[in-house]
Amino acid sequence: MRKIGILTGGGDAPGLNAVIRAAVLTAQRQYGCEVVGIRSGFDGLLKPNGLVELSPAVVEDIHDKGGTILGAANRGNPFARMVMRDGEEVVEDASQEVVARIAELGLEALIVAGGDGTLAIARDLAQMGVRVVGVPKTIDNDVGGTEMTFGFDTALNIAVEAIDRLHTTAESHQRVMLLEVMGRDAGFIGLHAGLSAGADIILIPEIPFSYQLIADEIRSRLERGYPEGLVVVSEGARPLDGEQVFSRAADGLALPRLGGIAQQAAAWLEQECRVETRTTVLGHIQRGGTPTAFDRWLATRYGAAAVRLAASGSFGRMVSYQGGRITDVPLEEALAHPKRVDLQGDAVQTARDIGICLGD
Ligand code: F6P
Repeated sequence: MRKIGILTGGGDAPGLNAVIRAAVLTAQRQYGCEVVGIRSGFDGLLKPNGLVELSPAVVEDIHDKGGTILGAANRGNPFARMVMRDGEEVVEDASQEVVARIAELGLEALIVAGGDGTLAIARDLAQMGVRVVGVPKTIDNDVGGTEMTFGFDTALNIAVEAIDRLHTTAESHQRVMLLEVMGRDAGFIGLHAGLSAGADIILIPEIPFSYQLIADEIRSRLERGYPEGLVVVSEGARPLDGEQVFSRAADGLALPRLGGIAQQAAAWLEQECRVETRTTVLGHIQRGGTPTAFDRWLATRYGAAAVRLAASGSFGRMVSYQGGRITDVPLEEALAHPKRVDLQGDAVQTARDIGICLGD
């Protein structure tokens, strides 16, 4: 193996730089292999100045930095690429161009760090003959075929700190505080953070909630002498017989933007329970900044494992974390079923055991 490429697609996640560093060091030290960094996801293969040589010196000490030195692109799908034709924006399939560019560059493997959208592109390119290895990335932890994606632990820790901080001000002012966290259609951030920080109510996408029930819960707390409350709301949560709340519609290239459910729940609780509420939307604070030790540890192991996998000639696969060990699974299998909170699992059971209301 003499030359491989690496790119980071979709939204960023803490730990991306640790993956890049480990991949470059492993490739160089173990295989004497050159690594080409592709900027802005797959777009870097189609644009001028889209490539950067990644030597060990370039990646020195980047493991503790958030973001990605290669840049991310959550609209960079080569199968549906926005281009200008005769002064008009049109969507075109540029996948053949990408395949040809990879061959022209002499890349013997392409390491793709991304969430389910980016990994689906990698799988489709693999079907066109590109030798890809996937690395599961996302704060949402919703990629199938692995117990953990890197980025999740950092987002979780930030959410826990936010709830802890809301707790003290909720007590001082006797308010019900709602925190909206990310996660798209998966409730891992909401459930894990709410459990860890002692929320009173946790609303996740996997469990449609009853407005009546959450009002009953707050009223019961008031009757028991607890005038404050902490409610963690996943951005993808939805009421029974209701829909998810979006702050922006899809536009053909990008997914619709979730946001606003916590504010709606807050308005309902104020009106029904006569309590004062405040809503915090944690947003991209969950994605930025220094990765936790766990995310660096996981991302570094993923980066090295991805290069080993490429060197062994195992393509169309994704590195994966199972039972504390790094292994790998076919991309097809990882993408077959997005991961969701297991309603029969011990985390949901524990929440119920200790009296957290899940809205059902
Ligand atoms: O998938 C990661 C994620 O952070 C989701 O939790 C969130 O819904 C989305 O990306 C936000 O995307 P953007 O950065 O495009 O606003």
